Amino acid sequence: MKSIKIKRPGGLENLIVTEQDAPKPGKGEILVRWHATSLNFHDYLVAKGLIPVFDNRIPMSDGAGEILALGENVSEWEVGDKVMSLFFPNWMDGLPSLKKTMPISGETLDGYLTEMSVISANSVTAIPKGYSFAEAATLPCACLTAWRGLVVEGKIKAGDKVLIEGTGGMSIFGLQLAKAAGARIFATTSNSEKAERLKDLGAEAVVNYKEDPKWGKTINRLSKGGVDHVLDVGGGSTMAQSIEATGMCGHISSIGILSGGRKGEITFPKLFFKHIRLTGIAVGSKKMQEEMVAAINVNGMKPIIDKSFGFEELAAAFAYQESGKHFGKIVLEY
Ligand SMILES: NC(=O)c1ccc[n+]([C@@H]2O[C@H](COP(=O)([O-])OP(=O)(O)OC[C@H]3O[C@@H](n4cnc5c(N)ncnc54)[C@H](OP(=O)(O)O)[C@@H]3O)[C@@H](O)[C@H]2O)c1
Repeated sequence: MKSIKIKRPGGLENLIVTEQDAPKPGKGEILVRWHATSLNFHDYLVAKGLIPVFDNRIPMSDGAGEILALGENVSEWEVGDKVMSLFFPNWMDGLPSLKKTMPISGETLDGYLTEMSVISANSVTAIPKGYSFAEAATLPCACLTAWRGLVVEGKIKAGDKVLIEGTGGMSIFGLQLAKAAGARIFATTSNSEKAERLKDLGAEAVVNYKEDPKWGKTINRLSKGGVDHVLDVGGGSTMAQSIEATGMCGHISSIGILSGGRKGEITFPKLFFKHIRLTGIAVGSKKMQEEMVAAINVNGMKPIIDKSFGFEELAAAFAYQESGKHFGKIVLEY
């Protein structure tokens, strides 16, 4: 079986194809034949060496595949079941803790850019009905994050106003989930063609965040008093405007640090005089993933896949992600 491994110190030229024997599942474990993964910004940071990992780490936190064999004492799955990975393989339910969230797929543990691997039978969920492996592989990181921000923490309801920022994988899932909940959608992008696509998908107003540096104020005006939910993807580069965009008692999910937004300044009175709730979000638990799958099985939502690459094309896929041309998710199928 083939795997891709990262040679230290990382970098797209240090993603190496390796061959090894297929492993056998032990007690409580399953052997999975992985067929697809999808790209997240986190995977990009790991592959580039910007999040350092052990030598020979298998990258990619998302995986979807089929169970090939069961170890002893596995009763919840059958051979042939289609499953997808968890970003945090140890976070089953309840509040996060360091113990539950230190093991991270594709970072502190091996990920899923491998033809096969053995994992705990607890560390997967079923994929939504009718989904291909590529479609399922888009969900565990990006969709679960948007789901948690809007549904679990934000408690979204019909008629709420939602701001999604940019057109990456997580944000487009945010748009789709908001639409399924009957919410009104506001969006930002740096690209006029993408703005048209956002409108086609149901955004009622789209602002170009490069042309309008005070886009938060503009969204506040267009939404007549500010939005109820923001999925913030830029941290230091977007949070001040996300706060401007938010209305009284709104909820901001702090999700990302795009455009160099690791640090930044905000004006605190704007946060507290609007009684804004700010939640730091790092993906979610297995229980949240199961609930998200249950919702998708009812609402029929399908991911928007921009482009698909082959197993050995990870570097090309990341280069494409780097270009920022994509709208929605980028996948690898094998
Ligand atoms: N905390 C978590 O659990 C979690 C989970 C998933 C993702 N994330 C984070 O969320 C962010 C997005 O992730 P992703 O995987 O969806 O990335 P992605 O697919 O690579 O998204 C890239 C897109 O983001 C947009 N963008 C870049 N800078 C922006 C800015 N200053 N304002 C608004 N949009 C901007 C651009 O959209 P346009 O081309 O339309 O301008 C770009 O195409 C990343 O920071 C990632 O680390 C966090």
